[in-house]
Amino acid sequence: MRLSVAIDGPAGAGKSTIAKIVAKKYNLMYINTGAMYRAVTYKALEKDISPDNIEALCDLIKDMEMHFENDELYLNGVNINDQLTLPNISKNVSAYASIKEVRVRLVALQRDMSKKYDVIMDGRDIGTVVLKDASFKFFLTASPEERATRRYEELIAKGLEVQYDSILKEIIQRDYLDSNREIDPLTKAEDALEVDTTGINIEQVVEKICEYINKEFEFSTR
Ligand code: DC
Repeated sequence: MRLSVAIDGPAGAGKSTIAKIVAKKYNLMYINTGAMYRAVTYKALEKDISPDNIEALCDLIKDMEMHFENDELYLNGVNINDQLTLPNISKNVSAYASIKEVRVRLVALQRDMSKKYDVIMDGRDIGTVVLKDASFKFFLTASPEERATRRYEELIAKGLEVQYDSILKEIIQRDYLDSNREIDPLTKAEDALEVDTTGINIEQVVEKICEYINKEFEFSTR
C-alpha cells in the first residue's frame, strides 16, 4: 500500500513549507494542490475565461498536463511556479476553486498521483475528500494576523510592493470563501491531528508532525 500524508488548513498556515520538509524526511512526492487550482486560474485569466463559463473551463483543463518536479508545478512542461503566487491569482483563485466541474477534474488528477507515488499533499479537502484513507492526516491553523505577516514577508522577500492590511483582508476573505463554499469546503477531517502553528517555529511544527508519524509507524509495526 502506498504511503500518503494529507495536510489541510487555511491560507498561510505553513502547509507548503512544512510539507516540503516532511516530504524530504520520508522520501515522499510533495503535491501542492493549491498550485493546481492556481494554475487553472492563471490560464483562465490569461485566456479571459470567466468562472461562469464552465464549458470553456473544462476544455481548458483537458489541455493542461500538470506534474510536480522538485516541489514545483510544471504546466505542459513549463515551470510556472513563480507566476502562481502573484496577488492577481490569489485574489481570483477562490472563484475558480469553488466550481464543481473544476474540482472533480483536479481531484481525479490528484488521486492518480497518489496511486503512482508515495505522496504528501496539501490543500483544503485532502483529508476529507481527495485522500479519505490517507495514512496520516494533519490540520494546520494559525491566527489570521500571523498568517498575513508570513505572506507579507514572503512577497516582500520576492521584491513585490504589497500592503500588510490588504493581505490580511484578502486572507480573511479567502478563509470565508473557502470555508463556506458549497462543494468540499475547508474543514478538519475527524481523524486529523490539529496543529496550531501560532507562535511556534517551523522546526517545532515539523517535530510535532514527525513525532506523530513515527509513533503511529511504531504502533503499526509492533
Ligand atoms: O493553498 P493555496 O493558498 O495556494 O490555495 C489556493 C486556493 O485554492 C485557495 O483559496 C483554496 C483553493 N484550494 C482548494 O479549494 N482546494 C485545495 N485542495 C487546495 C486549494
